[in-house]
Amino acid sequence: MNSFKLPGGFLLGTATASLQIEGGDRNNSWYRWAEEGHIKDGTHPVNAVDHWNRVEEDIEIMKKLNNQTYRLSLEWSRIEPVRGKFSKEAIDHYRWEIEKLIEAGIKPLVTLHHFSNPLWLEDNGAWVNHEAVGLFERYVQYVVTYLGDIVSDWITINEPNVYMINSYMFGEWPPGEKSISKFIKGSRNMILAHIKAYKAIHSVREGMNQKDTMVGVANHLRVFDSKKKTPLNNWISNLYDRMFQEIFITGMTEGKLISPLGSGYPLEKGKYYDFFGINYYTRDIVSFKMNAASLFSKREVFEGSAVNDLGWEIYPEGLYRICKKYYERFKVPIFITENGTSDEKDEFRIKYIYDHLYQINKLINDGIEVQRYYHWTLMDNFEWIEGLSSKFGLVSVDPVSYERKVKESGKFYSEVCSEKGVTKEMIKKYL
Ligand code: GAL
Repeated sequence: MNSFKLPGGFLLGTATASLQIEGGDRNNSWYRWAEEGHIKDGTHPVNAVDHWNRVEEDIEIMKKLNNQTYRLSLEWSRIEPVRGKFSKEAIDHYRWEIEKLIEAGIKPLVTLHHFSNPLWLEDNGAWVNHEAVGLFERYVQYVVTYLGDIVSDWITINEPNVYMINSYMFGEWPPGEKSISKFIKGSRNMILAHIKAYKAIHSVREGMNQKDTMVGVANHLRVFDSKKKTPLNNWISNLYDRMFQEIFITGMTEGKLISPLGSGYPLEKGKYYDFFGINYYTRDIVSFKMNAASLFSKREVFEGSAVNDLGWEIYPEGLYRICKKYYERFKVPIFITENGTSDEKDEFRIKYIYDHLYQINKLINDGIEVQRYYHWTLMDNFEWIEGLSSKFGLVSVDPVSYERKVKESGKFYSEVCSEKGVTKEMIKKYL
């Protein structure tokens, strides 16, 4: 095992999402989804981990972890609780939180949509209704008008592909539908909403004379490798790549709709990214299967591969492959906007972090501009339909008292952040 050092300007931090940590909000699509009994372990985002009331305590933890940056998301349903009516109290709360981060020397990266919708939007057909585009744009304008003087870095939408597929193809997330036509409409609307938001953020901040605006999407990207390189297997793994990533990336970067979403440029052709955000977790080994119900495919991991608690392959080289591929295409700084693992016993997270950062170091040495790394996630939290029992955090949270405790992996990551790398001593101590 080798030591390594990342460049001085590289930023390390952690990422979270409002719905997964805040608690207290009953006005969003995931609250209802939990009420309807869809969460596997019966836990509920209305509790989450009480971050809304523990902002200062959690920022103290980030300081302890030597985080230089923090990716947070804003809950639309709190900021616009009723269609067209904005809550000064909610936006003030976020402003206060962001000011505290800045005081602590932690640079904020703010996500505007991370999987959860206000109930009024959900009941209006959510993203499948074209109205969502203009409604999102108005919300973004409101937020950036209030926060644009202190926030330069924005993510418009987190993982549009994962949201659309889980909500409208697999039917596992709210509103629980299985409809290709809704998937297509909703995906198209999310692309248009990103472009409108990209323009709105730039124009509002330009109006404030702010020149350092950075806007992007957090793209969930996986490697799809064929199990055996047969024509049918290759066809199905390419199809996964196209439907899961390519149609979203092409739309959100240049405004182009490709089949099956549409064709051409419904808005202006442009460049709608200042950085390229990558959420990387795993790869899928894909083969063709003669069964329509399973989308003519089987996704699995190679026998003997290391997997996490959710059965996802741990494949650090995939991070290298993906960053290289998209850097060569887009040539803008890459932010790893999420990377982490579900590991209840905190047995393999340290190695996971080491192995993935090692790949990042290699990428940088090969001239690929990776500039930031956000570990998913700061503390154990509400992991969507898995509930609170899937543990991705560097910090554990007691389910009753909400007491936070830095795990061994958190201690390791804290040293990684302060060293901006891994030293020989750290390898001896932790690995
Ligand atoms: C991502 C998502 C996060 C988090 C993570 C771990 O897809 O953006 O909210 O849940 O996966 O599964």
